[in-house]
Amino acid sequence: MTDPALIAAAVKARAAAYAPYSRFLVGAAIKDEAGRIHPGCNVENAAYPQGMCAEAGALAAMVLAGGRRIVEVAVVGGGEGLVTPCGGCRQKLREFAAGDAAIHVCDAAGRVRRTFTLDELLPASFGPENLRS
Ligand code: THU
Repeated sequence: MTDPALIAAAVKARAAAYAPYSRFLVGAAIKDEAGRIHPGCNVENAAYPQGMCAEAGALAAMVLAGGRRIVEVAVVGGGEGLVTPCGGCRQKLREFAAGDAAIHVCDAAGRVRRTFTLDELLPASFGPENLRS
């Protein structure tokens, strides 16, 4: 079951997105090991490559709050296609998430369109354990 509060936080975060260039608004929310929910939105920049994804913002909020494990993620976006985390964000999430962590991809209204595990989105991934062996 998806936590409705997680989805609601991502929908709310999307409304705060700063995306004047792409006009593609994205909201994300991460639930941590303590059950806390950390929202984020995309923040674009006139120097285009400096823009930040919603997932990265949510991740930064989690770490700032002391969270260290990602239990569940919701991403909310519009358009026809599934708004899955970009490649860079998949790796960022990987740092703090187990392979079976759920990533809910939702439409703009917050309806879950599809749920992936992190392993599905980033198979055979490289993570912190690699540096310990
Ligand atoms: N974007 C996100 O914030 N998260 C995603 O999962 C996909 C893409 C943002 C980046 C950029 O600001 C805009 O959406 C268009 O790519």
